[in-house]
Amino acid sequence: MQVLHVVGARPNFMKAAPVIAALSKRNMAQTLVHTGQHYDANMSDIFFQQLGMPKPDVNLEVGSGSHAVQTAEVMVRLEKVVLEWKPNCVVVYGDVNSTMAAALVCAKLRVQIAHVEAGLRSGDRSMPEEINRLVTDQIADLLFTPSIDGNENLVREGISPEKVHLVGNVMIDTLVRLLPLALDRQEHDDISRWRDRRYTLVTLHRPSNVDDPALLGETLKVLVELSADVSVLFPIHPRTRRQIERLPMPGATDNLHLLDPLGYMEFLALQSKAALVITDSGGIQEETTYLGIPCLTVRENTERPVTVNIGTNILVGQDSKRLRDEAQRILRGGAKKGSIPPLWDGKASERIADVLTATLGT
Ligand code: UD1
Repeated sequence: MQVLHVVGARPNFMKAAPVIAALSKRNMAQTLVHTGQHYDANMSDIFFQQLGMPKPDVNLEVGSGSHAVQTAEVMVRLEKVVLEWKPNCVVVYGDVNSTMAAALVCAKLRVQIAHVEAGLRSGDRSMPEEINRLVTDQIADLLFTPSIDGNENLVREGISPEKVHLVGNVMIDTLVRLLPLALDRQEHDDISRWRDRRYTLVTLHRPSNVDDPALLGETLKVLVELSADVSVLFPIHPRTRRQIERLPMPGATDNLHLLDPLGYMEFLALQSKAALVITDSGGIQEETTYLGIPCLTVRENTERPVTVNIGTNILVGQDSKRLRDEAQRILRGGAKKGSIPPLWDGKASERIADVLTATLGT
């Protein structure tokens, strides 16, 4: 039996790493395809090194492009690989364009598809990831959900419950494994100077937040205001960097630190000690919930409602006044307390590997 994993963008890597490791322990033959959706060293290579992932057997080098171009390029190039290697099952992760493209290729070739992080729904079809989630889940054969809301969404959409397995959150497997190492390494890293300081950590990369200069300007204004009281660390996605460079900075920025994208270990160490995290990422809503760190999400909705209902996450929408007020409240000590959702225990990948080996054999 051969399992082929497809990864493409930064948030895929920390999900695939533990599944590959768990299947290796069970002696499963595995191959790894990187689509090349993310290609900068600090968006891709550094994650492979830090997560201890095997080198991809092939990189499709699709790079950037419109959604249609990127999706189509993955499909055309991956089809050849799947036809040649004839895997028994292809595992796809999360909700990026590479995920949906790979699932479409395999559905047409009648190769079994397993989707890790299935069932998440924001209900917002203006989000490209929501389209990727809906399509991928409709055509997947095995669906691994991180939380019970995922099962409920899939049942509502008519997916047969026998295909769906509630396994927990694989991203947390990687966090649990690497947090002690990340904290240990921080002593020697470039980020060590932040170790004993109080700071807010920020990431923003969604087109809906960064492509509109007026909206991005408003958000930056809030960050500058917050930086009067607390250091603000902002590792910047390449898309966001391009947009920020076109804007005037709204005030003094000596305590607002615009950094290059960080590696997994550096970001995790910073996240685990932050006074507050402000983000529009999906995974960071989950990591902060696990770590018990207050998180403000700059989005109107989330596909990860457990982080709000159980965890430390608050949706502030695209309302800069609300962002400022909630941030100040948290920094004054008014953060809500959260708890860790069921099955976010570091063992989700073991449960996935058990299901895969039981279904496929080895
Ligand atoms: C993608 C995912 C998003 C995920 C994010 C994590 C989709 C639809 N979106 O968004 O769900 O949260 O990854 O980062 O798949 N770029 C570089 N270097 C790189 C990669 C990208 O400079 O290594 C720049 C390019 O200008 C590119 C832009 O970033 O056009 C956007 O990249 P893309 O892969 O299209 O989407 P992300 O915004 O990264």
